[in-house]
Amino acid sequence: MNRMPTPHKDHSLNLAPASVGDYRELARKRLPRQLFDYVDGGSFGEYTLSANRDDLRDIRLRQRVLRDVSEMSLSTTVMGQELSMPVLLAPVGFGGMLARRAEVQVARAAERAGIVFCESTLSICAIEEVAQAVQRPFWFQLYVMKDRSYAEDLISRVKAVGCTTLILTVDLPVIGRRYRDGRNGLGGGISAIGIMKQKLDFARHPSWARDVALGGRPLTFGNLERALPDAKVPQDFQRWVDGQFDPSVTWDDLEWLRSHWDGKIALKGILDADDAREAAARGVDAIIVSNHGGRQLDDVPSTIRALPAIVDAIDGRIEVLMDGGIRSGLDVVKALSLGARACLVGRPWAYAVAARGEKGVDHVLRIIREEIRVTLGLTGITNVRDLNRSALVDP
Ligand SMILES: Cc1cc2nc3c(=O)[nH]c(=O)nc-3n(C[C@H](O)[C@H](O)[C@H](O)COP(=O)(O)O)c2cc1C
Repeated sequence: MNRMPTPHKDHSLNLAPASVGDYRELARKRLPRQLFDYVDGGSFGEYTLSANRDDLRDIRLRQRVLRDVSEMSLSTTVMGQELSMPVLLAPVGFGGMLARRAEVQVARAAERAGIVFCESTLSICAIEEVAQAVQRPFWFQLYVMKDRSYAEDLISRVKAVGCTTLILTVDLPVIGRRYRDGRNGLGGGISAIGIMKQKLDFARHPSWARDVALGGRPLTFGNLERALPDAKVPQDFQRWVDGQFDPSVTWDDLEWLRSHWDGKIALKGILDADDAREAAARGVDAIIVSNHGGRQLDDVPSTIRALPAIVDAIDGRIEVLMDGGIRSGLDVVKALSLGARACLVGRPWAYAVAARGEKGVDHVLRIIREEIRVTLGLTGITNVRDLNRSALVDP
């Protein structure tokens, strides 16, 4: 099938950014290469990373006319929480390396937009720092480390700041091979020349260095300070993750989680209909169809392609969210048409906060909201909750 051209490819960066793609280009300029690649890259040959985008683009919407679209509703609920539009900000580790105290900035932008921010275990800002900056509850994403007492401690901190929902990420028992990170020295084994290159790279990005390397300290994992003696961001990240994360976690561990957490639980990283059925049978409140933005197992289906079979398998028992490759309101409408209740976006907020701080995130959320509104208007649908497969050509 013919691919549509990437609409933002040739835009001059001297113009005001108008799309998520423009923010990607701004982030590319602003961030040291090592950090841009960390955000932008995927695993292995990055085929799933591309497929997340390509398969979304291949879906065709039906253009419907003469249907009175003067009144529109974009709001919805996810696990009982009101959202002003069906979009959430996905957990992104190392956020605070992209902009000064980025998780705080992003949580504030989410609150202003009336949506939810999901804070990663591997955030730079601690849960308490984020909680002080916002009124509305945000969500917390948990990775289970070998030392369970660390997770138990974290869960009690999450409760203490009033988070309502825990996202348990289940697609990272071991970390995917991320070759861009390896080449740039984040995967360890970097030579003396490599270290010099890194320093040069940082020096070539003085506004980032001022804002983050100097102004954004402490650059430690704020949520892990009690569990790891210095919580320092390790140079060899891939090896560190493999050493710390618990690869022995199974479905039975959901009982352990339940015994420590009585709020809502969403499982993130479901890509297979059998796993989706198991999740529903185990009593979680929602699943997030995700392949970690193409950063874990490569050569797996894109999330938009996996979504319909999972929605059918769940058959309305629990809510199904989805992420991976969502870059516009068009994409959100497509995912909702295939049965997602809402979508998470990862890289879009990461690019935006890196490029322009929280104002960038405000803007990206306005862009996506407007795109959803226009897409609904042109498909003749006035309420995001009415979207279903009939909005698509060849669903
Ligand atoms: C730089 C980066 C870091 C991420 N870190 C985490 C993380 O700490 N925890 C997690 O559950 N998912 C993490 N993810 C995956 C996202 O939550 C989300 O699934 C993915 O970004 C969605 O794809 P998208 O970036 O195309 O929107 C990360 C993704 C990126 C791009």
